[in-house]
Amino acid sequence: MAGQSVFEVIEGYYLALILDAFLRTGILDRLRDEITTGEAAVLLDEDEAVARALLEFAAESSDIVERAPAGTYRLRARYRSWSSLPFHLHKLVGAYGRLLAQLGATASAPQVPATTSRLAQAYAGLHQEGATLVGVLLRGSDVRSLLDIGCGPGRLLVELAGRDEAFRGWGIDTDPSMCSFATERIRSAGLDGRVSICQHPFEDVESLQMSGLDDVAAIHAGNVLNAFFWPSSARAVDVVSGLTRRFPGRRLFVSDYYGQLTHRRRIGVEYRQTLLQDVAQAVSHQGIPPRDRDAWLSIYQDAGAVLQDVVEGSEAGIRWFLHTVRLGFPAAGV
Ligand SMILES: C[S@@+](CC[C@H](N)C(=O)[O-])C[C@H]1O[C@@H](n2cnc3c(N)ncnc32)[C@H](O)[C@@H]1O
Repeated sequence: MAGQSVFEVIEGYYLALILDAFLRTGILDRLRDEITTGEAAVLLDEDEAVARALLEFAAESSDIVERAPAGTYRLRARYRSWSSLPFHLHKLVGAYGRLLAQLGATASAPQVPATTSRLAQAYAGLHQEGATLVGVLLRGSDVRSLLDIGCGPGRLLVELAGRDEAFRGWGIDTDPSMCSFATERIRSAGLDGRVSICQHPFEDVESLQMSGLDDVAAIHAGNVLNAFFWPSSARAVDVVSGLTRRFPGRRLFVSDYYGQLTHRRRIGVEYRQTLLQDVAQAVSHQGIPPRDRDAWLSIYQDAGAVLQDVVEGSEAGIRWFLHTVRLGFPAAGV
């Protein structure tokens, strides 16, 4: 038998956890008949958008759940009368699966310290030092000073500063582990005189004060604006509006991805990674980002900004983009 790819394995892991949650909350029982997203949300004690994302993920990725004509969800016929389904989930996921999930929890010398966020560990461990596509495009756009929002471990700032002696950079991130990784990377590259990092949230960018920052020419939001689509896209509009007030008239570069789960149906297997990212976005209450350029355009417009240029591509199951946006000038007194 051919082995499963890593993304198939992760998809199966997510599905097992979702089905176990459906079992524990009574949703699985209701799926033998039919259930609406609203009813599932009540049983899960979750937002309806989250319940919908989980049901859509189960319908897209498994042969267990299907969409019913009335816009509801149900088990596929072969599982509806299979009384052993709860038995296997209780036993293999709930009981023994939990033991697997806890393996190594009491190890005396863990490789990842408990104080380091797993997300920071993921990004810091990428060990990719070469030029990034975003870096190449920013240099091509003659960006000589940049505020990188959600800078992670500082890869982009180090890349830009390392290739241009006049470059000045500032990075903000909410994750203290990311800030530590970025600060250390900048220091060991000898760039700490020109690049600085501050732990600060995007949503409070109007109060951000860092030495020299008022002269910054451009802003980059790399895979961070996607965190502002829950409970609705109004939050994304708010953070871009905040940028407009703090940095009127500057260029904003947004690199991110087009979401698919709950926006489309019958999503091709080539977008398996997008589905995984989308369901992770939903359960972490970041929300699933807009599906295409037009939907993102309306975010910028509502924030008083203008979309000036678009570069798009598809790689590793993700439809990514780089948008060049011109921030507006808020009306006097606003
Ligand atoms: C997906 S990572 C992307 C890192 C890097 N920009 C890149 O593209 O490789 C998103 C980063 O945004 C940070 N982040 C998330 N929410 C944030 C917020 N509200 N304000 C500032 N940073 C945030 C996370 O800690 C994380 O480092």
